Amino acid sequence: MRAVRLRSESGRAPFIVFEGIDGSGKSTLLVSIAERLAAESVPVSVTREPTGGRVGRLLHSYLTREYEADPGVAAALFAADRIEHITGEGGMLSMLGGGTTVLCDRYFLSSCAYQSKTLPMDYIIGLNSYPASLLMPDLTVFVDTPPEVAFGRIGARLLETGEARERFEESAGELERIRDAYFEAAERMVPASRFFVLDGSLTPDKLADRVMARITADFKVTEE
Ligand code: TYD
Repeated sequence: MRAVRLRSESGRAPFIVFEGIDGSGKSTLLVSIAERLAAESVPVSVTREPTGGRVGRLLHSYLTREYEADPGVAAALFAADRIEHITGEGGMLSMLGGGTTVLCDRYFLSSCAYQSKTLPMDYIIGLNSYPASLLMPDLTVFVDTPPEVAFGRIGARLLETGEARERFEESAGELERIRDAYFEAAERMVPASRFFVLDGSLTPDKLADRVMARITADFKVTEE
């Protein structure tokens, strides 16, 4: 079967990260990019952090407040989950090495943005220097949705599902702080040329069009 592979500057398949505050619409965007790439016969894999692995499961119980941990412990667990996600069996490095484009919902900028609620940014950047040395995104897509819009969407989703608010979803003010921390961390951790900010109030189709145009501009296409 024909496969159209994408290549980043480094020669391997691209690693593309999607970031944004809760309710920003980044996960919907990620799914539609995966569908569009697959429709063009690009081998693509979709993944997320925290993962569904051992450490990731602990983090899910931290987010729902079943597990109360010191914020320093949580930050270290997020970094540990990330390392497993990169180097573990079937992890992101092995997918990329096999020529599959990887789309990841959240990566180290999430730790910088969220864990800086209670911890110094320098400490979080330090914790993430090892995962960052193992795998840097070729492109980070930041869906910049106004915090009050995102907060409204979270509320509507909770009404629909009957779920409780997760840690970090408590207020529009906190989402605003997280947004600011994203920009601070991005400036320190990722080259500006690989940080793509999108206006989250655009329609889902327009958002996906812009990301596809950027992917076409940034990555080489080879046919097999
Ligand atoms: P999210 O990605 O929005 O998934 P869901 O749709 O299941 O709610 O939520 C994950 C939460 O985890 C989000 O509130 C941010 C938080 N988080 C951190 O605090 N630090 C991290 O390093 C990561 C990856 C996520």
